Amino acid sequence: MSAAVIDGKAFAERLRERVAEAVPAFASRAGRKPGLAVVLVGDDPASRVYVRSKGKATLAAGMASFEHCLAEATGQAELVDLVQSLNRDDRVDGILVQLPLPRHIDDKAVIGVIDPAKDVDGFHVENAGRLAVGEEALVPCTPLGCIMLLKDRLGDLSGLEAVVVGRSNIVGKPMAQLLIRENCTVTTAHSRTRDLPAVVRRGDIVVAAAGRAEMIKGDWLKPGATVIDVGINRIAGKLVGDVDFESAAATAGAITPVPGGVGPMTIAVLLRNTLTAAHARAGLPAPEGL
Ligand code: GUN
Repeated sequence: MSAAVIDGKAFAERLRERVAEAVPAFASRAGRKPGLAVVLVGDDPASRVYVRSKGKATLAAGMASFEHCLAEATGQAELVDLVQSLNRDDRVDGILVQLPLPRHIDDKAVIGVIDPAKDVDGFHVENAGRLAVGEEALVPCTPLGCIMLLKDRLGDLSGLEAVVVGRSNIVGKPMAQLLIRENCTVTTAHSRTRDLPAVVRRGDIVVAAAGRAEMIKGDWLKPGATVIDVGINRIAGKLVGDVDFESAAATAGAITPVPGGVGPMTIAVLLRNTLTAAHARAGLPAPEGL
């Protein structure tokens, strides 16, 4: 192995500390703590774990946490009512509706009623559109965390070739937008891309968000490439990414591990987005250095 392993866990811990340090100044100016509401529908075990750790991290950062766990059979109208009441609740700066929702609920319809100013997931079309046209926006947590790791590793990303594998609304598309904002030359590859290995080999930066275990191999990479693995797949009880770590680490210059790479960044950026949303809602300038 020649690649440096990018320690997302350590970076995320430092980001969480910086957020926590900025909370008292907000509280003294606004007269209240920043608040994050997390909504879970149903009892998917993985989602329960995520929601619990989001709540714990929110409290650990000194923020107010509001958890709403609804039964699997909850109707869409009831969920929409809850989101609307959270929109009106002045203690709530961020609203996160945990995905996936049960099949009888249209997630687009629910996300569409979240106040864009409280949309700390950055999933509302208003925030997606703002990001696309280069206006200030709340940006999806996982891709923003990837950009932070890339800039920490590489400094200025200007002019670099970036290949994003995956085109989801949650990761691939916002990732490509953020890389364009950093002046990268961006290719978005996906399941219909022809000769994917040749496309991936163009990348000085490769972001893997395809949702297929260990799909990207070391001999697909440009030597020295920086590889960000967003994948979380379970094979025989073991967590693996979308990149075949062993072979990739022999070719890449730097690579994120799974677990311990991108994963811990998502919650840290969620707290950062909540703090940012709180400042904007209170009419305060955005906190610096976050
Ligand atoms: N489910 C898995 N990841 C996420 C996320 O980042 N936000 C939401 N709302 N649900 C998720």
